[in-house]
Amino acid sequence: AAGAIPRSPAFDETLSLLREGYGFLPRRFADLDTPIFRTRLMLRDVICMTGPAAAKLVYDDARLTRVGAMPQTVLRLLQDKGSVQQLDGPAHRHRKAMFVRMLMEDKGGLERLVAIFRRCFLERVPEWMRWGAVQLGAEMDIILFRTALAWTQAPLDADEVEADATLMADMVENAGHVRPRTLGTLMRRSALERRLRAKFRDIRRGRLVPMPDSPLAMLAGYRDAHGELLSPRVAAVELINLLRPIVAIGRYIVFAALRLERHPQWREILAEPDPERLSGFVEEVRRISPFFPFVGAVARAPFTWNGHRIRRGQWLLLDLYGNCHDEAVFREPDAFRPTRGLRHHETDYSFIPQGAGSASRGHRCPGEMATVEIMKEAVRLLTGTITYSVPEQDLSVSLLTVPTGPKEGFIITDVAWRA
Ligand code: HEM
Repeated sequence: AAGAIPRSPAFDETLSLLREGYGFLPRRFADLDTPIFRTRLMLRDVICMTGPAAAKLVYDDARLTRVGAMPQTVLRLLQDKGSVQQLDGPAHRHRKAMFVRMLMEDKGGLERLVAIFRRCFLERVPEWMRWGAVQLGAEMDIILFRTALAWTQAPLDADEVEADATLMADMVENAGHVRPRTLGTLMRRSALERRLRAKFRDIRRGRLVPMPDSPLAMLAGYRDAHGELLSPRVAAVELINLLRPIVAIGRYIVFAALRLERHPQWREILAEPDPERLSGFVEEVRRISPFFPFVGAVARAPFTWNGHRIRRGQWLLLDLYGNCHDEAVFREPDAFRPTRGLRHHETDYSFIPQGAGSASRGHRCPGEMATVEIMKEAVRLLTGTITYSVPEQDLSVSLLTVPTGPKEGFIITDVAWRA
């Protein structure tokens, strides 16, 4: 019947989702031959969707909210309660404007972020030259965390950098799982939140003065639409929402290094500075590499969409990974082709690894430009500034676990300055 949403036959598919990872949604859209189906996850009724029209719905419709759209553990490890992602309407736009200003509009701030990353990367190279083998993924966590601290001016102790960098990476690593480590990471995160909350209280009391115009100063001085300052708890949560995802860019840098290894002609091509090719390369890395499998939303009001009745409180999932691999949009989606000329854009509802639509009006990631610029700098450094070897190792990337990456984190040896 018109409007009936096909149902996946199993009673509850939570275990299948955990088992099948990135392939869970795409496989069912293919098997049921539909861009929309209904199933149950964690015993909750959910409508799963793919395709540009669905992306438009999930990113542009004011009748949807992110509140209640993710399991508690995922929410607490990633965006957290009280964060911008949990706001709607005018309150969301007002808070989001702060992120958009610091991460998109302030070009000087973005340039500073990339310059800091470059410096933190170069500082580490002499150590790599002394070591036999370097685990690129773990090194990126540290380099990017130092970058994030220097850029935001987050008041955290330098002697805890390695532990805190690991915590940032663990939040992302464990968000896709429910296992003992998830609980431990949640507890370490709470401790970090407490430390940062105390710092924001110190700022309020004038005992700590943030560097003017730094993200720390912007967070501390931000006033909502009613003129209220953020509570120290929410300010701490939002600061972590800058630190954690900057560290997460390391996952894409590892995927970029993996592509340089698998497609050595691109190492040659990129050794010659060419902004178009470099941008095409990193955008194709973001398209093809698995990261966020999907995002969730919940209907705040009943409505009809494409002939389907959506009830109030309905849980929706949008397949991000599948959209980036849609063969109706990307020819041979599993082929790595930096010449596709991809460039993320608010009117493109298919190339959406970091969400779709407008970053200022909707929930699209405000850190996309920062991600792309840091990835470009990393590729410039890996192709133009240092040389290295990639020894025998298992470089396969399983699509069954979320998040994922090469099994051994990408090990390099024989690091040297390029002559
Ligand atoms: C939102 C992915 C990097 C800050 C999002 C969303 C996705 C995403 C898919 C949308 C969530 C939703 O629709 O509910 C990624 C990926 C990144 C990345 C794959 C690569 C590392 C960053 C960076 C920052 C950042 C570098 C900041 C420094 C945020 C914030 C939101 C967000 C604050 C919430 C926006 C809102 O709800 O309005 N990200 N992100 N992300 N991202 Fe990112």
